[in-house]
Amino acid sequence: MSPVSLDDPASLAAVDTEDFLRAVEGLPAQLADAIGRAGEVQGLPDPAGIASIAVLGMGGSGISGELCRSLLAPVATVPVATIRDYDLPAWVGPETLVFAVSYSGDTEETLSAFRQAADRGARIVAVTTGGSLAAEAETGGYPVARMPGGLMPRAAVGYVGIPPLVICARLGLAGDLAADLQEAVDAVGRRVDQCRRSVPMPGNPAKRLAARLSGTLPLIWGTEGIAGAAAYRWRCQMNENAKLFAAWATFPELNHNEVVGLYRSAAGVPIGVVVLRHPGEHPRTAERIKATIGLIWDSVGFVEEVWTAAVSPAARLMDLIVTGDLVSVYLGIVRGVDPSPIDAIMRLKATLST
Ligand code: F6R
Repeated sequence: MSPVSLDDPASLAAVDTEDFLRAVEGLPAQLADAIGRAGEVQGLPDPAGIASIAVLGMGGSGISGELCRSLLAPVATVPVATIRDYDLPAWVGPETLVFAVSYSGDTEETLSAFRQAADRGARIVAVTTGGSLAAEAETGGYPVARMPGGLMPRAAVGYVGIPPLVICARLGLAGDLAADLQEAVDAVGRRVDQCRRSVPMPGNPAKRLAARLSGTLPLIWGTEGIAGAAAYRWRCQMNENAKLFAAWATFPELNHNEVVGLYRSAAGVPIGVVVLRHPGEHPRTAERIKATIGLIWDSVGFVEEVWTAAVSPAARLMDLIVTGDLVSVYLGIVRGVDPSPIDAIMRLKATLST
């Protein structure tokens, strides 16, 4: 099958039948809207004595935990953890601020963990469009950051990811994030303008990278922290939007294991390595990236670095994320795969609901 032309609107529409790309192109407005909505949530918990922050969520909603964890690590005085499971760790208790995040509000793992958090007297904020989570949170007297519905959860990274950040800032746990988040909106806007569907392939880095990744096994690398969170997001979006098996890892840890598996390897499928970069990397890690690329260059299909020039960590993270979202959608389309349906997830949810 010949690859679909990413510059032909009719071909794009024929493959992307539900226009998933529109949701990604709408991310700048979504981020701005999410900031506004999160700023208006009433009845937030008392911040006095909060000793830990836990973000509960799965899949496209669970990414909110990675945003929170990676962005707050350098500024918050309490630890932040992402919990993607039915059960909470033992340390979650009355001094834990818990964000229960589910775009649909009906994800069973998140509901289970939310109920455990309520039983333990945790200080809960729900982030959702509705469903059982909104209903149960309201019944329990917990604040609900209610977001607009109508999107696929993985296209709602602003609506699920921004509220915990804004609310942590409002509670005095994350410094003042307002300027950083505004820069994130602007950076995402610039990236979308650079990579939107109307920009032809030669001047459109997201389309070009998608075309390069087609026929490879994508392997996404980032440095621990924000680029690592973005690398995880890229992997998930490759899975769900492009329907591809993909891998991810972080520096410096991958220098102590994965690199051995790649060095002089002869994988059956060429590996397309994407390295997510930003100017705030630890200088030694930057050296490691350079040395590692030199080491594996001959063993993989290609290596491409994706840089963000944004200044604040929030803007860098969101810029890297939206770039990956665009690449993953174009990658699905160029392979003739509709980005929207996620049959495997729907079948699993149906099987488990009977
Ligand atoms: C679907 C998607 C999934 C869902 C996950 C949890 O677009 O990305 O990963 O996010 O199945 O569902 P929600 O987000 O509704 O809690």
